[in-house]
Amino acid sequence: MRKSILFTTALTLPLFGQAPEVKTAEQVYKNITELKGTPADQLVPTMQFISVSLGVECVTCHVGGKPEADDKRTKKTAREMIAMTLMINKNAFHGQTQVTCFSCHRGAERPVAMPPVLESDAAPARPTPPAAPATASTPPTADSILEKYVTALGGPDAMKKVTSRVGKGVITTSGKDTPIEVFTKAPNKRVTISHNANGDSFTAFDGTAGWMGNTGRPARDMSPAESMASGLDSEFYLGLRLKEIFTQLRSGRPDKIGDVAVISLNGMRQGQPPVRFFFDANSGLLLRTVRYAETPVGRMPTQIDYTDYREVDGVKTPFRWTLSRPNGRFTIQLSEVKANAPLDDSKFAKPAETK
Ligand code: HEC
Ligand code: HEC
Repeated sequence: MRKSILFTTALTLPLFGQAPEVKTAEQVYKNITELKGTPADQLVPTMQFISVSLGVECVTCHVGGKPEADDKRTKKTAREMIAMTLMINKNAFHGQTQVTCFSCHRGAERPVAMPPVLESDAAPARPTPPAAPATASTPPTADSILEKYVTALGGPDAMKKVTSRVGKGVITTSGKDTPIEVFTKAPNKRVTISHNANGDSFTAFDGTAGWMGNTGRPARDMSPAESMASGLDSEFYLGLRLKEIFTQLRSGRPDKIGDVAVISLNGMRQGQPPVRFFFDANSGLLLRTVRYAETPVGRMPTQIDYTDYREVDGVKTPFRWTLSRPNGRFTIQLSEVKANAPLDDSKFAKPAETK
């Protein structure tokens, strides 16, 4: 049985990037029995994981405004299910989270126990076995993948000549378009401002920590895990920095995204779920990243797909990207990007109240 070094050390070493004292769910919330010991900032991601795994809303188990109340039968069942799931993994999978709510529920409130009968007299379609990878050769090394990526962007010298970008465009979410501005500054500052009819909303990383806000309301700090993810998205010279950010970069086997052949890198770091990077095998450009939010009942994925690379001041940059999660998705399409516009650090700092 596979035994992951990452998993065992994660439990004994302090989590990188988190404050030394991490509050537990039961210290922050009122009525926690099964999720005791879970870092408090994993409670809401856990609830999101449960909701999408069962295809239900929060109100299936909670009375609005009083999540600590135990009025609903479904909440009681969910507690038993959490205990069962943790036990299956402990007893059958050496404590690794292999079975989750989604393994059984697959997006339905009640799992399906029996395979369906055939509904047609035609010969059943045989699933086509996955095609063998075109080349049986050894996958490229992490170094060669990164070098090809950096060269495709324009090379390290051209990259270092650009120290900021200002992009304007549109964010599309739930079929609605909203104007957006994206400001980025080396080495790792970023703020996106979407101009909604009722005010602006901000998502930002100030170089150290992430924050979010809406016009007229106090801005809020991101959780340590959100902040870490946002920090990665804010890396201005990502291709040059991956080897410093991750303690280990492993190349994966050749794969495809749609019809495009891709090669992948898995970024590992202490006490954190891996982050996966997929590069176009021909052009070398980064097409996709997948990262995970850790919860005690399973991992919530976030996928970002980059397209429409265009050259601005000698460096390629994506003009379009889509962020998708099991419970949400948006696409940003930029129409213009200006490089090296002067940007003051205060642009990225968390204000007391969002202006
Ligand atoms: C399938 C049932 C289920 C769904 C759906 C669900 N929850 Fe929960 N929730 C629970 C259970 C069970 C607990 C208690 C966990 C424990 O005792 O360790 C809980 C606890 C909580 C708590 C802690 C309350 C306190 O003070 O003790 C919050 C907050 C919460 N849920 C929010 C949400 C949100 C937000 C959603 C929707 C995204 C959601 N939940 C969806 C079952 C559910
Ligand atoms: C090993 C398979 C399995 C896993 C894992 C599992 N469930 Fe279930 N769950 C079931 C089955 C089977 C039922 C239906 C039982 C029945 O019909 O009486 C069920 C029923 C439920 C119900 C009651 C639904 C209703 O409308 O009555 C809830 C709520 C629930 N599960 C939540 C969860 C949560 C939350 C998790 C993850 C922490 C989870 N389950 C993991 C198999 C599983």
